[in-house]
Amino acid sequence: MIDLPTLVVNFKTYYESTGSRALELAKLMEQVSEEYGVSFIVAPSLPDLSLIAEITNIPVFAQHVDGVSPGAHTGHITAANLKELGVSGSLLNHSERRIGVDLIADGIASLKSHGLHSLVCSATPLVSKALASLEPWAVAMEPPELIGGDVSVTTRPDVVKTTIALIQEASASVIPFVGAGVKNSKHLSDALLMGSRGVLLASGVTKSPTPRIVLEEMAKVLQSRIDS
Ligand code: G3P
Repeated sequence: MIDLPTLVVNFKTYYESTGSRALELAKLMEQVSEEYGVSFIVAPSLPDLSLIAEITNIPVFAQHVDGVSPGAHTGHITAANLKELGVSGSLLNHSERRIGVDLIADGIASLKSHGLHSLVCSATPLVSKALASLEPWAVAMEPPELIGGDVSVTTRPDVVKTTIALIQEASASVIPFVGAGVKNSKHLSDALLMGSRGVLLASGVTKSPTPRIVLEEMAKVLQSRIDS
């Protein structure tokens, strides 16, 4: 069970958020999440998943999963394996790890059958609607051209609001998220006010020289939305 609204921090494969730095950053997220009583999700790269899932108490998502059963599949990641590690879910179809719709559907089914959450990424409002009809746990729309940059997705309110309406039209139970270029608490606050139930972000935390300050500012926004 994941509390909402939430902040999903994708560690990608940044130097600053892999290896020993990944564990430190995940522990910092855990501390801030506990101090403020808010929901954070961490998505470390595969080699760091196991340790972070074992040591921290915040939900851990993989960055990708393959919808295959345990067996003769080399270089694949199974939902069964994630479950055993104590991982709570997985991103699927991130812009930097695109897969076809069949594989997305397989991934969602496999995660569901293991009681894990699927957070499916999409690049446009219409694709968000199509993917929401597959009934994942959540859909996160990220305009690819804004990923990693300084222009927040929330500077496009029409795109955000249309996306959320289309996701809800496809399925009332799918949770809408947005992401890309989200760097500060104002961006997060705007996203939540537009109807997003959380934000998917990376560089705003992983590349920040002061991640604690960023996380605390974001935590205050999440906290205010829980209380209201
Ligand atoms: O998965 C989140 C990501 O694609 C957004 O990246 O650096 O723009 O927050 P960033």
